[in-house]
Amino acid sequence: MSKKFYITTPIYYVNARPHIGHAYTTIACDAIARRQRMLGADTFFLTGTDEHGQKIERAAQAAGKTPQQLTDEVSAQFRGLWDRMGITYDDYIRTTSDRHKRGVQALWRKIRDNGYIYKDQYSGQYCVFDELYVDAAGPGSPCPECGRPTETVKEENYFFKLSAFQDKLLKLYEQPDFIRPETRRNEVISFVRSGLRDLSISRSTFSWGIPVPDDPKHVIYVWLDALSNYITALGYGSDDAKLYEKFWPADLQMIGKEIVRFHCVYWPAFLMAAGLPAPKSIVAHGWLLFEENKMSKSRGNIVRAETILEVMGQDALRYFLLREVVFGQDGSFSFDALVQRYNADLANGLGNLASRTLAMITRYFKGEVPYPSAGAARRPADGAIAEAAGRTIAECNGLFDQYQFSRALELAWGLVAAVDKYIVENEPWVLGEKQDEEIRAQLVTVLYTSAEALRIVTALVHPVIPEATAKIWTQLGLGDIKTFRLVDLKWGQLELGTKLGSVAPVFPRADKSAIERMQEMEEQGRGAVAPTASEAQPSAKPAAAATATTTAAAKTAPPIPEGKIGIDDFTKVEMRVGQVRVAEKVQGADKLLRLEVDLGNEVRQVVAGIAEAYAPEALVGRKVAIVTNLAPRKLRGLESNGMILAASVEGGKPVLASFLEDVPVGAKLK
Ligand code: MSP
Repeated sequence: MSKKFYITTPIYYVNARPHIGHAYTTIACDAIARRQRMLGADTFFLTGTDEHGQKIERAAQAAGKTPQQLTDEVSAQFRGLWDRMGITYDDYIRTTSDRHKRGVQALWRKIRDNGYIYKDQYSGQYCVFDELYVDAAGPGSPCPECGRPTETVKEENYFFKLSAFQDKLLKLYEQPDFIRPETRRNEVISFVRSGLRDLSISRSTFSWGIPVPDDPKHVIYVWLDALSNYITALGYGSDDAKLYEKFWPADLQMIGKEIVRFHCVYWPAFLMAAGLPAPKSIVAHGWLLFEENKMSKSRGNIVRAETILEVMGQDALRYFLLREVVFGQDGSFSFDALVQRYNADLANGLGNLASRTLAMITRYFKGEVPYPSAGAARRPADGAIAEAAGRTIAECNGLFDQYQFSRALELAWGLVAAVDKYIVENEPWVLGEKQDEEIRAQLVTVLYTSAEALRIVTALVHPVIPEATAKIWTQLGLGDIKTFRLVDLKWGQLELGTKLGSVAPVFPRADKSAIERMQEMEEQGRGAVAPTASEAQPSAKPAAAATATTTAAAKTAPPIPEGKIGIDDFTKVEMRVGQVRVAEKVQGADKLLRLEVDLGNEVRQVVAGIAEAYAPEALVGRKVAIVTNLAPRKLRGLESNGMILAASVEGGKPVLASFLEDVPVGAKLK
């Protein structure tokens, strides 16, 4: 029996239309699903939309629609986009569907009957944007996730006994693959170790949700509702649970890093409470940034996938996102970079290799693949390509298995470059013009070697750039690439006499006008979706007041002695208390750590030279002092938005400014 592979995307909120941030997750999953199918796994790929909750209800109100109208429209936009992008999902779940509602209620009953649900009074803060209960925060305090003001909720609710699962969850995290990458795992472990409170899992002050079984005045908390999609889509709680039996637990649940807590803490706890197995692996990727910020509707800095599809095609978008962004880390999107990558790697790289190789086979061998005869001399250069191809197969497969797309693609393009160089050095176009038998044999070897390497790269990268590679495959005369089994891939399979299909370029070069067209399309589109005031990110810039006092004070202040600074100079420096959320080593820099520091109303990336003194895991959760109004600078290609205060001890390691543990995040240091 073949191995099964169940992969899921998060289900997307329907309060806004899709952008390339959503496409990024979906593309990564699609590439993985396609690869699994090529490896022969019985694959099930699920995506869908998250349609309940207060956030959607309010978005519908704001748009003058009923929630159902809004969700129908936006859910169809998501699905339409995935179809247009050739996403090979096997099922599309909507949380407003009956099958989902039934499944969620079945799960609720199971958890309740197992004794993990009770009723109590909830009084506390709630962030509607993140649909998150914010513990231990006073009225009006900002959400620690997004910085927006929270709302006070006071109602009788159902609670889930999350506190009962602390030890079991910590045990689960011992499985090394349960949460990846490591930084996220550390965050989750430190969150769970710090103690879990029971979780409110129903609301009674609005109605856009799934009714609680036997108490329909309440609707089920939207995250319990949404997370359940991963099993309701498989038929959990219905009469036909064959797919559930076959595919659950999921092999891979892909998410963005901002929803790690929901997936790695709440979700497995709900499952455990129902007596169901936890997923095998959750992988959190980083954010796609545009103009330095997380791409999101609320910031108004989105780029739509449709624009890129229209101008550059789906392969360009897929390749760019998976090649350019180191999977797991944040990465920037820009039209310039997209076009540059496309031209360098696709048009000039793979595309050029394919067209020149296939054109020469057409010209010198009437479109039939030549094969070196048994006695033909093989020179070191020919053997080197065959060996490089063999290595590329092994290493690329290993990297793809670890979801290290960018490195895998880099390696594959290393082979493209090696073959290009080989072609240039061997000048088959010169060999082809000579009649000498020995030279002819050399031409056979050079073109066979090039075509075979081309075939290997094409098969390896098919899951990432499916459209163009399918074309190259048919041009190579190999039929439908989907039926090819990656496990079988090895050097020498291209057969003598294989008849090439009709040869045509697969990646036409893009010029500057492509960038202009995309920018124009986005400008036009953006005008229509400017964020409303309530959605806009709260401003994180507190500097205006300080500047005002500086100029006013300058008129009356006495002269400042040399070597000293005035109070005004000092107050120009803004320092705040922040809490480290994420800490990780910067690749290739022994001294640097990349930190994400929560300043109360925003989370900043800071690159700090403290790696020799502090292990990343020792910093997560720790309070630090940060200079917050320094101009951003780049260290090792990473933007640092602030400076961490540390004492430098002669000949020793830096020591972080401390005694801040009791000070609230965001407090100013004076
Ligand atoms: N509905 C919830 C998820 C429920 S899953 C049971 C939700 N939806 S969302 O639409 O806000 O975002 C979902 C996912 O979209 C993110 O986790 C991430 O995978 C992807 N992204 C949205 N914006 C993104 C970027 N700017 N960059 C990268 N991924 C982004 O949260």
